[in-house]
Amino acid sequence: MMVVPYNTNEPKKNQIRKMFNHIAEKYDFLNRLLSLGNDKCWRRKTVKILKEIKGEIPVGNVIDLATGTGVLAETLLKLNPQGKVYGVDIAENMIEVARKKYLNEPKLVFEVADGENLPYNDDFFDIATIGFGIRNYNHIEKGIKETYRVLREHGIIAILELSVPKNPLFKLVHELHSSIFIPLVGFIFAGDLKAYSYLHNSVKEFSRTVNLVEELEKAGFKIKVLKTFTFGTVTLYIGEK
Ligand SMILES: C[S@@+](CC[C@H](N)C(=O)[O-])C[C@H]1O[C@@H](n2cnc3c(N)ncnc32)[C@H](O)[C@@H]1O
Repeated sequence: MMVVPYNTNEPKKNQIRKMFNHIAEKYDFLNRLLSLGNDKCWRRKTVKILKEIKGEIPVGNVIDLATGTGVLAETLLKLNPQGKVYGVDIAENMIEVARKKYLNEPKLVFEVADGENLPYNDDFFDIATIGFGIRNYNHIEKGIKETYRVLREHGIIAILELSVPKNPLFKLVHELHSSIFIPLVGFIFAGDLKAYSYLHNSVKEFSRTVNLVEELEKAGFKIKVLKTFTFGTVTLYIGEK
């Protein structure tokens, strides 16, 4: 059975939108707390690797899919894109928080849009990122194909996602942290136990059932980087069109 936040009959996408709309105002604070301050570092490392890959090639337009409150989109400005950095998300309240935070960044454009059905032309972007979002997609395969469509030839996709460590000791610590600490803190600070229990269950389900390398290759991407951070709790997948 598909893991969903509220276990109602509503489609997964509606439940995900509702959940992120509910926690939008608390999202950044809880993200920092639950990742024990590591989240910024994962995004910074991703952008550094993207910079190395793209080298001296001018970067035109960039898109951050499932951008949430726009933190990764803002970090992507470091790539010095010649065009804009677009941040899109299905949850209106997350986009609203992003717009307010980055009001004075004219290069950042935030829009409500679905990563599985994007309102952009083919071959429009040089780089597309998805930070901790792909796990929440309704159809991962569709979302990856759609990203492929909007990327130019040699365009780069970078996916950051939470993962379960392989080492048994780290796996045990990770299990305790995600099954007890995360839902408890989520309940205390965001008043949404289900949202933060979903986080734990969805990471486990995703690690068990989805092979992102295969999905990327199936869509036509060539894998360029496969790297884990913080004892394997986060994995970075980079592919080229
Ligand atoms: C855990 S948050 C990640 C936010 C941000 N990328 C970050 O690094 O903090 C996941 C986000 O994915 C969004 N999302 C889920 N499914 C989506 C879809 N099909 N299209 C666009 N956004 C989606 C959610 O609304 C949510 O804001």
